[in-house]
Amino acid sequence: MTPPLPEALRTVLERAALRPLRQIASLQHEPGRMALLSLEAAGLYLDLTRSPVDRHDWSTLLAFARDSRLLERRQAMQAGETINVTEQRKVWHPLLRADAASLATWPGSAAQVQMRDHAWQGVQATLHQMRRFAGQVLGGGLISDVVHIGIGGSYLGPELALGALVGAHAPPGRPRVHFLANVDPLAWDRLAPALDAQKTLFIMASKTWTTQETSLNARAVRDWQQAQGLEPEQIAARWAGVTARPDLAMGAGLPAGQIFGFEDWVGGRYSLWSSIGLPIMLGAGIEAFDALLAGARAMDQHFFSAPPEHNAPVMLALLSLWHQWHLGSQTEVVVPYARGLARLPAFLQQLQMESNGKRVDIDGQPLPVNGSPVIWGEPGTDAQHSFFQSLHQGLQIQPIDFVLVAGQPDDERARALQANALAQIEALSLGRPGSDAHRDNPGNRPALVVVLPHLDARSLGALLALYEHKTAALGWLLNLNSFDQFGVELGKQMAGEFLPLLARNAGAPSSDLSPATRALLLRLRRAGGA
Ligand code: F6P
Repeated sequence: MTPPLPEALRTVLERAALRPLRQIASLQHEPGRMALLSLEAAGLYLDLTRSPVDRHDWSTLLAFARDSRLLERRQAMQAGETINVTEQRKVWHPLLRADAASLATWPGSAAQVQMRDHAWQGVQATLHQMRRFAGQVLGGGLISDVVHIGIGGSYLGPELALGALVGAHAPPGRPRVHFLANVDPLAWDRLAPALDAQKTLFIMASKTWTTQETSLNARAVRDWQQAQGLEPEQIAARWAGVTARPDLAMGAGLPAGQIFGFEDWVGGRYSLWSSIGLPIMLGAGIEAFDALLAGARAMDQHFFSAPPEHNAPVMLALLSLWHQWHLGSQTEVVVPYARGLARLPAFLQQLQMESNGKRVDIDGQPLPVNGSPVIWGEPGTDAQHSFFQSLHQGLQIQPIDFVLVAGQPDDERARALQANALAQIEALSLGRPGSDAHRDNPGNRPALVVVLPHLDARSLGALLALYEHKTAALGWLLNLNSFDQFGVELGKQMAGEFLPLLARNAGAPSSDLSPATRALLLRLRRAGGA
């Protein structure tokens, strides 16, 4: 039996359903709209005016935010309360990028402050250990390549950051960084030939140290190192481990001085600021990693202090709900007009969908509304030549987050990039009548705009923290737990059961399996090992 809707949620749901479909084109000229729906935050500029929400709807959404548990949970996060109740953990990834000055502004009782300062000292000690190791690697001149082995949150953040800050070719004096995530043998087989075993450092990145793909890839790499003629001590010296289980990494024979820990209060999809970010330090530099932390810290200070009406992450969360409830949108598109942010959609997919793709609230009660839209996207202008047709003329309205980088070179191609971004924002939100029904562009597609001053570490840190806090705010508005991910366990368990059945010499599959699954299993087994 679903409990009655909280009054504030019922009010905003009713209002969203009863309001006539608002037109962005007419709302654009509402007095004071820019002041209401655009702002600067931690160096980023957000223009949220192209959403079908007027000032009355907006005040209803803000009232909902104030009546929800958002503000209380925001403070509880900082204070180090166990807000991830199903795993009995704190949620303290902002502590990874706090400095002494910002930490002094955090609330908490004397006991909480003491506990937090102790945890922060631990974070600083790990950062110091990472910087020292990075200095040795970068100064040693031996390592030409780094292979970071991890999956999900254990690699998506570092891959995005290095794509943004460095690209495929390492700057002088820095190693090239590669990512090995998929367990498909092709992933490692296509990477190995480019590597010199003597000059390659491998990082095994796994919060739990039990992820099947990462373990199998690490084993294949060690076999390769041996085949390349490395002695056991040479192999060990070319491994680092980043994990919340340093005991398991030690047991796997990694040198203690090359194991970098982090706490269980760092969620996988929130972990690039922890030792999981080691490849960023190696590939982009120690200063770049510090700037990344500084950008996220600036967004943290904004998020933790600004009232809902001037709080960028909260405003994004509220508009996400409005688009779902007023427009019936089921997805959100992220289109970065920056080649360096090509992996932003993938990062935001895990961040938002693994956090809020839930069916029950924090108390285990059925959620009365959807937790997370489906997040997808590709960089612009590429996306204009693939799915923008559907965005312009499809029946389903898909809100778009445009992520732009203002600081561009004086180059016709850069101006073309910006001109296309401006054009798509205008065309999708305003539309234009055509000479017939086939050529009509209805417009009224929400086009939210986030502008980075430059594609640099500080701006990137602020951007990723913006979406981390949007994700948390959305979960708190809907009273769900954004910080566990039990939905991924069943697949992992079943994969463990299927694995032995695919061996060529395995016996007949159990009759418990459906005929279709048995047939598929046998087809894959027979073809396997080709
Ligand atoms: O997808 C499930 C998940 O647990 C993610 O939350 C996590 O980022 C990923 O797998 C990798 O987990 P680990 O870092 O423990 O290897």
